[in-house]
Amino acid sequence: MSKKNLDWENLGFEYYETEKRYIANYTNGEWGKGKLISDPNVVINESAAVLQYCQQVFEGLKAYTTKDGSVVTFRPDLNAERMLDSAAGLQMPPFPKERFLEAVDQVVEANLDWVPPYGTGASLYLRPFIFGSKDVIAIKPAEEFQFRLYATPVGPYFKGGVNPLTLRVSKYDRAAPRGTGHLKTGLNYAMSLNTTVEAHQEGYDENLFLDAATRTYVEESGGANIIFITEDNELVTPKSSSILPSITKRSILYLAENHLGLKVTERPVKLEEVKNFAEAGLCGTAAVISPVGKIVKGEEEIVFPSGMDDMGPTIKKLYETLTQMQLGVIDAPEGWIRKIK
Ligand code: PLP
Ligand code: COI
Repeated sequence: MSKKNLDWENLGFEYYETEKRYIANYTNGEWGKGKLISDPNVVINESAAVLQYCQQVFEGLKAYTTKDGSVVTFRPDLNAERMLDSAAGLQMPPFPKERFLEAVDQVVEANLDWVPPYGTGASLYLRPFIFGSKDVIAIKPAEEFQFRLYATPVGPYFKGGVNPLTLRVSKYDRAAPRGTGHLKTGLNYAMSLNTTVEAHQEGYDENLFLDAATRTYVEESGGANIIFITEDNELVTPKSSSILPSITKRSILYLAENHLGLKVTERPVKLEEVKNFAEAGLCGTAAVISPVGKIVKGEEEIVFPSGMDDMGPTIKKLYETLTQMQLGVIDAPEGWIRKIK
């Protein structure tokens, strides 16, 4: 076997059917032994809970080829933990952390030819998910579930790579104050499709969602958290119980404080004060750190001093520090990198 013949430097964020995926089924109150399979198709009953009532949770993480040719994942333990929280929030059985990590290792190892080479800017995106596979018709949780994990090689989530993005403030809300915004479940993304398509049609890269209760605080985008840098080089990021606790953001906050010596503050951020920030960026596994150049709300435009041509200097330092750790160019904090090969 040898590396797939793909144009690695120019991959978008799309699905490729790779060789192997991992599945484990939950029946009779327990998870069965998992295995790697070749078939990418799922056959389930028409009344399966995932099809009728969206009983599904998922994760997203990446495997990278490092500078020395190893293949690694970045903080997969945190994805395993977040999936436990998401599953608990949707009446689904916990998939044990150790098994999650083993499934990640196995899928990456079985698809090594699909792991983009070092220096291409691409990586192998891993998508673990659990869904209610047993039929229901009354509103209730399924009694059977499937855990599945597949891999697909990806490039940058936003076309144009690291060019600053233009966000629009969405007219619609993403998550209710005591709803499911903090969980990684497909239903949060289903409800964002209308406003995402509308944003793209109007020429924006992404939506920025506000808090649903008052529509005065900034929350996050449809697929990433947001960070701001003040003129005094402080990192400020929204604190809210209805945003997804991003692993990338948690890592960035640590690096900002401990490697770059920045003051870091997590607090509610009013939309009204966003015009005072010097730089902004979206952060997530898919987004990595994507600089934001402009935020538009109706007639009002906020253009950050960092502009529309380049990443702001602090966002750039954070981006470099994070990606160099993921690619093994510089050492990451203890326990952040899991070596697979
Ligand atoms: N917020 C949302 C809504 C997301 O879908 C994601 C992607 O996973 C993130 C934030 C970023 O989270 P992470 O850094 O763990 O990928
Ligand atoms: C991720 O970053 O892993 C996500 O799940 C976000 C999605 C927009 C692809």
